[in-house]
Amino acid sequence: MLAWKRSRKILLCVTGGIAAYKIPDLVSRLRKLDCEVEIAMTEAAETLVSPLALSTLSNRRAWLQSDFLASSRGFEIPHIHLADWAEVVVVAPCSANTAFGVAQGRAGGIVEAALLATQAPVVLFPAMNVHMFENPATRRNLEILTQRGVRVVDPAFGLLACGYEGKGRLPDTDLILEEIAYALSPRRDLAGKHILVTAGPTREYLDPVRFISNPSSGKMGLAMARTAWYRGAEVRVILGPASPAGSAHGLEIHGVVSTLEMRDAVMENLEWADCIVKAAAVGDYRAEEKADHKIKRNTGGNDQERTFSLSLVQNPDIAAEVGARKRADQLLIGFAAETDDLVANARAKLERKGLDVMLANDVSAPSSGFGVDTNVVHMISRTGGEISISGSKEEVADAVWEELITGGLF
Ligand SMILES: Cc1cc2nc3c(=O)[nH]c(=O)nc-3n(C[C@H](O)[C@H](O)[C@H](O)COP(=O)(O)O)c2cc1C
Repeated sequence: MLAWKRSRKILLCVTGGIAAYKIPDLVSRLRKLDCEVEIAMTEAAETLVSPLALSTLSNRRAWLQSDFLASSRGFEIPHIHLADWAEVVVVAPCSANTAFGVAQGRAGGIVEAALLATQAPVVLFPAMNVHMFENPATRRNLEILTQRGVRVVDPAFGLLACGYEGKGRLPDTDLILEEIAYALSPRRDLAGKHILVTAGPTREYLDPVRFISNPSSGKMGLAMARTAWYRGAEVRVILGPASPAGSAHGLEIHGVVSTLEMRDAVMENLEWADCIVKAAAVGDYRAEEKADHKIKRNTGGNDQERTFSLSLVQNPDIAAEVGARKRADQLLIGFAAETDDLVANARAKLERKGLDVMLANDVSAPSSGFGVDTNVVHMISRTGGEISISGSKEEVADAVWEELITGGLF
């Protein structure tokens, strides 16, 4: 977990959408990150989710509409106090009515007034009936807010409380947390950059049901992608058959299966990329011929005699091909999974494949390699630099970007 995601000050504005019932879970998750959460609610929200539940989970009072103009609160001016205190303001769910009010600059209640007063980034999660969401009036209000620098996050598609199916659901808590992290990210130093990441394993099918693969989870590649997104980059991930471990929100995912498919996808996106990160564990070999039908067991002779021979051919070396084809202004970063002579092997690969930076990890060590959440990498650059970075895969990924940027490599 990146340190800057923890212990932040979040003003959570809850408005009168039926999805308000999901907000206690969000508060609880934010508290587990040691965040301080102030809650402000509209009157409509109070009818849909209990202020008592929210204040219990946030371990603070919930600010209600009745606090807005209460004579006993005049000395605090609650909406200004909340607006100034917050590092980020989140409106979840945001009703069509509140979106309209904020777009118009209305300050009729504690939520609207705090939103008008705050200088902090605002992230808004509209959630409503699909026809309400698609109504040109709502679209216009959300557009106005976007133009004003508010981050408006599209609702999810699915079955809605009103019985319709369509776009209008409050996104999952994980996605909301990712958007909050994005808003709080301390740096946007990769803004305008296009980053192409390969991640996960590949599968080389022998027949329709069997394949050669490896235990790569895609975690390191996705961590590289996600941390680049936090820094403002546009990120495309060519992902082998692994379900994204951790969030893939904000990333453009292109799913592939085999090494040849991964190669084609990389080449299609090569022109677009300013930086290519090759973090996938690509299969070096594939079956010379893939059987159309399931390969049957051999029934003749005894078990010792029942051998099966498989002829393999080498796959193209994607990193080397990119290294040979890339423009001088494109940065190519590779990962080397090694089990021995880590640095020497990695440096030899860097030279042979034309990489700019190699991140070498010892996959035989318990704290680095396949599937685990931590990693230890030796970052070796073409210009001779070499450092060791360790931590969670997300921490390692972020430190790699930091090193590339501060070291003037990117
Ligand atoms: C049961 C119920 C559910 C509602 N759900 C939503 C909703 O999901 N999204 C929405 O924009 N409005 C919804 N509304 C309408 C809002 O509650 C209504 O427009 C209200 O005035 C919003 O006030 P507020 O923006 O101050 O919270 C719902 C109303 C009711 C009665």
